[in-house]
Amino acid sequence: MTEEKRFPKGFLWGAATSSHQVEGNMRNEWTEWEKASAEKRAKESREESWHDSWRGYGKKERNTAFSKEASDPNNYFSGAAADHYNRYEEDFDILQELHLNTYRFSIEWSRVEPEEGVFDQKAIDHYKTMVVSLRRRGIEPFVTIWHFWLPVWVAEKGGASSKDFPAWFARYAERMAREFGSEVTFYVTINEPDIYASLSYLLGFWPPEKKSVFGHFQALGNIKKAHKLAYPKMKATAPHAKIGITKQFMHFVVLQKTPWNLAARRFADWWWNTSLVHALEGYQDFIGFNYYQKKIIGKDTRDQSKIIHTDISWEYDPESIYDALLTARQYGLPIYITENGLADATDRLRGRFLVETLTSVYRAISEGAPVLGYIHWSLLDNFELDKGFWPRFGLVHMDYATQKRTIRDSARLYGRIAETNSLETPLS
Ligand code: BGC
Repeated sequence: MTEEKRFPKGFLWGAATSSHQVEGNMRNEWTEWEKASAEKRAKESREESWHDSWRGYGKKERNTAFSKEASDPNNYFSGAAADHYNRYEEDFDILQELHLNTYRFSIEWSRVEPEEGVFDQKAIDHYKTMVVSLRRRGIEPFVTIWHFWLPVWVAEKGGASSKDFPAWFARYAERMAREFGSEVTFYVTINEPDIYASLSYLLGFWPPEKKSVFGHFQALGNIKKAHKLAYPKMKATAPHAKIGITKQFMHFVVLQKTPWNLAARRFADWWWNTSLVHALEGYQDFIGFNYYQKKIIGKDTRDQSKIIHTDISWEYDPESIYDALLTARQYGLPIYITENGLADATDRLRGRFLVETLTSVYRAISEGAPVLGYIHWSLLDNFELDKGFWPRFGLVHMDYATQKRTIRDSARLYGRIAETNSLETPLS
């Protein structure tokens, strides 16, 4: 008997974006930082810095193929981005054309609460209209309340390191839950708290560019408190809501099984994957599972010439999501894959990546991982954080000069998988 590879009934198939990366015309902590640092970052992109190798951005493949874009200061201004704020209807039509039944997007805190305690009803209504528009198309909104970018007033008052941060965030999150009422079920309060705390407060790659171990723990502590404060308030106003954070999981692999490497793997797994989930126990209704690649602990003894790299030199790795999902099974909560994808400007790898990744996901589900949805990062090419526009993660290609959207072949393939809810005939 041939295996059908059919996903569970009601499986969510989606794509994700976040406000700063696609909306355009922002004024927040990041736009201020862009003004202050674009020239410097354009200059640095010509050198392979420690920063680049830590993030896996800096290897030769990228330097040759994308050096022109990366050394242009304009690359580092989010500017109009994909103008999604004005063109969301067109983008929702694309979701529909691709048979996707969920869309993960983020509310821009700086638009909704531009000054402390002062909410802009027009901006709130904009997001409410988006939700209605999704629902009209039968698409489930998966709403992120805060995805890395802070209003200028929050940043000026100390950002996530302020002791008031949890209260500011909880007030905003509760307001959003009240405004959306029964229209929104799925909320991600905070995207990747630990990535944010590490890159903004420990390694200093993102604003406010702090490099402090103490500062990092302080920020992470406040972010956890922010979620824990917001969760019951949101539940009180929207009891039907399913609320969680998103967490970037990693699968740690040891190739040389020395006692030291094995102990390091156990520690890394606890430190990176488990500790945050445990800290939020009782305050999450699902695991928001973001996944990009595995990490090798100890010496990487593989034949490096056989490793395929994506445009930002992250390893092409569609298999290890299986192991990571089996590990996440232990938390006893439903799992939504809330991000997974790759930078692939020419779309040479994305189709194959989707099929292979979803085969791994299917395998994990067959072995008891309670995965209820897969949301690809990203719907559109977008402004990739500190790297700017050159890395292209989109199912849809963006021509930024004309704002023309072009659906990539890989997206059509993904659309067929979503439409049939199975991997049966994806390559025919
Ligand atoms: C973030 C996205 C980002 C993606 C690719 C995730 O950690 O949530 O904002 O674009 O990774 O780097």
